[in-house]
Amino acid sequence: MMELSEKIPNNVNLSSDKGLQRALEHWQPSFLNWWKDMGPAGFQAKDVYLRTAISVEPSGWAHFDHVKMPDYRWGIFLSPPEKDRTIGFGDNAGQPVWTEVPGEYRNHLRRLIVTQADTEPASVEQQRLLGQTAPSLYDMRNLFQVNVEEGRHLWAMVYLLHGFFGRDGREEAEALLARRSGDPDKPRILEAFNSPIDNWVSFFMFTMFTDRDGKFQLLALAESGFEPLARTTRFMLTEEAHHMFVGETGIRRIIQRAIEIMKEHPGCDVRKMGGIDFETVQRYINFWYSISLDLFGGEISSNAADFFGAGLKGRAFEARHEDHVALEGSYSMSVPEGDGLVEQEVPLRNAMNEVLRDGYAADNQRGVDMWNRTLEKAGLDFRFTLPSRRFNRNIGIYTGHSFNPEGEPMSAEEFESRRSQWLPSAADKAFVDSLMKPVLEPGKIANWIAAPPKGINSRANDFEYVRLD
Ligand SMILES: [Fe+2]
Ligand SMILES: [Fe+2]
Repeated sequence: MMELSEKIPNNVNLSSDKGLQRALEHWQPSFLNWWKDMGPAGFQAKDVYLRTAISVEPSGWAHFDHVKMPDYRWGIFLSPPEKDRTIGFGDNAGQPVWTEVPGEYRNHLRRLIVTQADTEPASVEQQRLLGQTAPSLYDMRNLFQVNVEEGRHLWAMVYLLHGFFGRDGREEAEALLARRSGDPDKPRILEAFNSPIDNWVSFFMFTMFTDRDGKFQLLALAESGFEPLARTTRFMLTEEAHHMFVGETGIRRIIQRAIEIMKEHPGCDVRKMGGIDFETVQRYINFWYSISLDLFGGEISSNAADFFGAGLKGRAFEARHEDHVALEGSYSMSVPEGDGLVEQEVPLRNAMNEVLRDGYAADNQRGVDMWNRTLEKAGLDFRFTLPSRRFNRNIGIYTGHSFNPEGEPMSAEEFESRRSQWLPSAADKAFVDSLMKPVLEPGKIANWIAAPPKGINSRANDFEYVRLD
């Protein structure tokens, strides 16, 4: 049952567990203080057209209305339980799921939850200044929607920490509000979450590529034998889909606008006309895809094997696999050796990060194909590509080796000499930054991006998504 009028909206019957309710009501003001300090800068008092969860049923869980962000109804929503669910993989496959934390897996589970949890507030912090340069009210609203939902994802994880990990859980929940993205003394856990996302091209790339890492981590956790984790991540996935929509369509609109400029001014320099050229977009793709690949962890990982074996973290859509024990198979990967690569068979359980990365790569490719269809329809020959998974990696077996975007090994010197061809340079960033001027009139849009084909919740193009006065 949804309890929406309570101090903390929830469908976990929070009022029946007074201890937990008190602990979370104690955490709530700290969360709100964090949100006011580190959430979207300059827009806290504005009315924003946001969607809020009012049900966990797949059909129609969303309610749209203008609200001030600090009044957003952050709550604890779990997908409905599956009757008689059993653990779907690993050494405990077939046994009933755990509704409490199994003692022997407590540390592993806490680490999985804290690592996921930390990314949620981190991304809000990284994006906190972006509202000030929004290309339209539509985009500004989408940014804030993503931000409040990342805040809700933090609530989802903090519920697990408070509800199932006792004192350590409460301490971890405090620490989640104390770390700060980019702070050298108390940084966020994962490196990719410590540099600011300071222009909208990076924001769209982040929501396309980095949020999609989040989607795949959630898909793997949604299979967990720890039932509360599985149910909470399932509902988070329904929110996550919108974040990837924002990224994929945002980039598509940048491409669309460059095409329009090229049609209006044949043979022109797109940049001189205030658009973003395809080559620059491709370099941003190369950068954000490669750093997002790093978030999956090492290709060969004993941690991944442990998590799988224990039944804590599965594969995306585990049911689509046949062998759920995965003790027998192997995964063939290209491993650096000398100046080249050799094929190596890795025991399947140790390759689980790579298996998850496969699904991630395919999911991204679908988005890239959509962009390429836009080019094709415009009669253009240019095509966007995802770089090789070996390109520009800083975690895993390719670290310290140099590869071109096609994945061919090369010397570090050669890589450096061609770096600005493949990755955004300081000049690219200065150019993109120079375009970031706010456009705040309803229905108007910045010159570097095309208008969205349709409004949020079928609203008209000139709808006042954010009321600025
Ligand atoms: Fe999230
Ligand atoms: Fe997200």
